[in-house]
Amino acid sequence: MSYIESALQERRSFPPAAEFQGHANVSGLDAYRALCAQAESNHEAFWADLARRHIDWHTAFTHILDESDAPFYRWFDDGQLNVSYNCIDRHLPVRADQAALIFEADDGGGYQLSYRQLHEQVGALSNALKMHGIAPGDRVVIYMPMSPQAVIAMQACARIGAIHSVVFGGFSAKSLAERIADTQAKLVITADGGFRGGKTVPLKAVVDEALQQPGTDAVGKVIVYRRASNEIAWHAERDIWWHDCVAGMSTVCEPVWMNAEDPLFILYTSGSTGKPKGVQHSSAGYLLGAILSMLWVFDARPDSDVYWCTADVGWITGHTYVAYGPLALGMTQVIFEGVPTYPDAGRFWRMIQQYRVTTFYTAPTAIRSLIKLGGDLPEQYDLSSLRLLGTVGEPINPQAWMWFYQTVGGSRCPIADTWWQTETGSHMIAPLPGAVAAKPGSCTLPLPGIMTDIVDELGGKLTGDQGGYLIIKRPFPSLLRTLWNDPERFKQVYFPAELGGKTYLTGDSAHRDEDGYYWIMGRIDDVLNVSGHRLGTMEIESALAAHPQVAEAAVVGKPHDIKGEAIVAFVVLKIPCPEGEAASEIAADLRNWIAKQIGAIAKPDEIRFGDNLPKTRSGKIMRRLLRSLARGAEIDQDISTLENPAILQQLNATS
Ligand code: PRX
Repeated sequence: MSYIESALQERRSFPPAAEFQGHANVSGLDAYRALCAQAESNHEAFWADLARRHIDWHTAFTHILDESDAPFYRWFDDGQLNVSYNCIDRHLPVRADQAALIFEADDGGGYQLSYRQLHEQVGALSNALKMHGIAPGDRVVIYMPMSPQAVIAMQACARIGAIHSVVFGGFSAKSLAERIADTQAKLVITADGGFRGGKTVPLKAVVDEALQQPGTDAVGKVIVYRRASNEIAWHAERDIWWHDCVAGMSTVCEPVWMNAEDPLFILYTSGSTGKPKGVQHSSAGYLLGAILSMLWVFDARPDSDVYWCTADVGWITGHTYVAYGPLALGMTQVIFEGVPTYPDAGRFWRMIQQYRVTTFYTAPTAIRSLIKLGGDLPEQYDLSSLRLLGTVGEPINPQAWMWFYQTVGGSRCPIADTWWQTETGSHMIAPLPGAVAAKPGSCTLPLPGIMTDIVDELGGKLTGDQGGYLIIKRPFPSLLRTLWNDPERFKQVYFPAELGGKTYLTGDSAHRDEDGYYWIMGRIDDVLNVSGHRLGTMEIESALAAHPQVAEAAVVGKPHDIKGEAIVAFVVLKIPCPEGEAASEIAADLRNWIAKQIGAIAKPDEIRFGDNLPKTRSGKIMRRLLRSLARGAEIDQDISTLENPAILQQLNATS
């Protein structure tokens, strides 16, 4: 009997093709094993050597890893560097005219920016930020559409040592305000609006609303990029157009040399309890993780690759694998404003054909929806430029994997199923495609230097194929440094005392097969994974409970064909339990409420009303029961401790 039950059995294996392996940055299993062995034998020397080789330092470091204040680990901490310099300036001698960004807009228009142009635009915005009083260590919130300007804004912050916090453009004014207040940002960079799927997304209006909320007074200026020319309100004392503030600015801005451990950014992510967590990343360690995973997992070849990661910059994937990693290597990359299904479900394939994309990184949820909307569409396009595919965000089901492999990759391209998290900053478990055979549904083996293991809840070793808690035993450079404003929570959540206080607890469960391959099974806490995005059930529950008509709410996930997980909310109202029309109306109202409170991604797919929630006699909500109800599964749990058994029938019937 497994410690945690696992349902998946998949035995197919896809070794790297000889041709791919022959040219790969890490070629063959022995080369991968040799790197792992080096890391095992001298962990610090291994990382130090890579950090010296792959980062341009202004001042060389002499300290490697400082564990004296564990789990607040410090890496390379007497070294100085600038991340933006590493992403742009160092490429200018050879790549000034190479395209850095190829932008395709929602409507199909677009343009390219070379490394020289990127350097100029980042320089001008950096100077503008400085002129508006932004100094090293100040926080800047970025609320932008997917665009070159979002990347330019992030790079400009990095250049002057300001700490950015990007908020995904789909988040509500309330969520945005919370992040502005928590970071005490001095400046917000936004756009008037953006375009997605033919529709205008208002952004400036959301910023205006957010800045009326308490706690946001530190914001003195809002820089507005004109993108959609939609109508917006203007606060002359506070708002400045991007084009006005860069006009006349020098395009040369000397990078500020930062300490290796200075924070590069804060990115908020959901946890199981409480408010979103401000994950704080370092400068050098984070950059090193981004660079190495580009080389190892994406087998990056800056001279010939056209790389495309479809993630929005509002998520960690858009930080590491759009804004920093590809640029740090001098790659050419595609940036896409729109959605995969507009104007039709062939959009991705047409773009791959047009730009001759070699490396394509996307989410299983996008793959599943494209299979559904046009599984044979890829065949109508020339996808022969592709050489490597990648997925991220959730486990990919073997059927979707096989379709991606055969129909998109022409059975020619390795697939890197990359397991990692906002907190880990870069890939942790993923195949090195010229070395490690893939198995559909498995993220395979850890990257060199990443010491993963699977244990029980007290840290006890599990043997064989038993499922348990996925942990990382040794610190590594790209791991988060702390939670902004909340170091205690950082320790409790990620380095719990039960595991000795120095081992990183990922929050995922996993098992390992006879080849040592990892299979991610899901979360061990109350975090849902909806379309590859993490949502805390508590967050949605407290947003529901804040509605004037709601007495109590519990939220669980249920499997969903396309989204991975769908959100089901069980709600008790302050009025008698509604039925029929009335129930649909209130449900619609609650869904809109959640969109306003958190953002449209958190809208429940289903809302069921009851007079009560199933609780134990001690008053604890029985979530496992709710999960069974949501799935329409037989109730096979022990319900003898249930205070109010009749409630089950009601909650079942209202579905
Ligand atoms: O549960 C795992 C799942 O997504 C979580 C991390 O979410 P987030 O911080 O939003 O970052 C998403 C992009 C890295 C993980 O704890 N997850 C991510 N990638 C995979 C995955 N689950 C299975 N397989 C993956 N490849």
